[in-house]
Amino acid sequence: MSERNFKDDLPVFQVYGNLDYLDNAATTQKPRCVIEAVEKYYREENANPLRGLYGLSVKATEAYENAREAVRRFIGAKSVREIVFTRNATESLNLIAYSWGRANIHRGDELLVAISEHHSDLLPWQTLARETGAELRFLECDKQGEYTAEALKAALTPRTKLFAIAQVSNIFGRINPIKEFAEICRANGTVTVCDGAQSVPHTPVDVRDLGVDLLAFSGHKLYAPMGIGVLYGREELLEKMPPFLFGGEMIEYVTRESASFAELPHKFEAGTVNVGGAVGLRAAIDYINSIGFDEITAREDRLTALAFEEMSRLPYVHIIGSEKANEHHGIISFTVEGVHPHDVAAVFDADGIAIRAGHHCAQPLHQFLGVQSSARMSLAFYNDESDIERFTETLKTVRRRMGYDG
Ligand SMILES: Cc1ncc(COP(=O)(O)O)c(C=O)c1O
Repeated sequence: MSERNFKDDLPVFQVYGNLDYLDNAATTQKPRCVIEAVEKYYREENANPLRGLYGLSVKATEAYENAREAVRRFIGAKSVREIVFTRNATESLNLIAYSWGRANIHRGDELLVAISEHHSDLLPWQTLARETGAELRFLECDKQGEYTAEALKAALTPRTKLFAIAQVSNIFGRINPIKEFAEICRANGTVTVCDGAQSVPHTPVDVRDLGVDLLAFSGHKLYAPMGIGVLYGREELLEKMPPFLFGGEMIEYVTRESASFAELPHKFEAGTVNVGGAVGLRAAIDYINSIGFDEITAREDRLTALAFEEMSRLPYVHIIGSEKANEHHGIISFTVEGVHPHDVAAVFDADGIAIRAGHHCAQPLHQFLGVQSSARMSLAFYNDESDIERFTETLKTVRRRMGYDG
């Protein structure tokens, strides 16, 4: 593991010299190379892509499609036809629910959703169930955040058409055994939707090895700009799915009454696309590849263990999920006895430390755990020991600053 100071690569840390940014699960900060790639695109290559017959438009098209190829390679997809650009993970998941869902789900079918899902991987299925008359069911984990193959097998029935689960929960930070789950689902004829929003930025993801049918993630949690996301889908599945949004770019031929649609992946990319975002995503992927996931996960896991150890020493701090540090990959959600998580976050903010507080868009999980809300610290590879030191020093003072004796 190198001793390189990665913060030098991110201008925000020069702008705010003492920023301790521990809200990386919400969004990540942007490396200089990403900011510069987006700026260069808008300075030198901007035009409406995919439809132009002039040089600049061709450049924009190349920039966009090269980004798609970079994403394909990054997640090990077979073909660029399997990579659809969206706005974010939320839009990718909604696309599945509207397109695949409306074509395949009927009254009497079952949709199985993990209880720890982010609202973005729950509400599309809730709505789909309500509109089609399908039944929405939940797979529960234990209090440590563990899902088992046995529980999944027991929950699946011949009517279960879909299973939706995050590879890494944004509350627990635990890696779910997606490969095993996808295999179980495949044997049952159940489509597996994997929410990769918290895994793709932090751990190598190979969609063919995992065997998932569909995978969603956001660029902005992956050091890329906001407004660009990805939907991966197995080609045979995407091929059969109807378009989600209709309009320019996604058509082949249009008459007054009807239209035929473009080939994959363009049939899912209606309207003018976000080339700048895609260019930024490609730059982010190149940057991540230049560091390597061995280094990224080693750094994040080491810092997680350090924070976990310090937090475990404080009797009034309760960590949500696993009691083992190595089952929290860069995410530790917690409560402080007697102090509302918003007050916890306010104390941290006063010390220049950014953490998240609230329900983290996972209210059913908080209800399941019997916790109103929580605070969360989440890491990226550019965090370092001094961030953890400052975090624990402030954590030790929270109760005192809220008027408690100890
Ligand atoms: C696990 C998970 N899924 C989905 C999302 C939604 O991501 P976005 O808001 O970028 O669509 C998030 C965001 O926090 C998340 O943590």
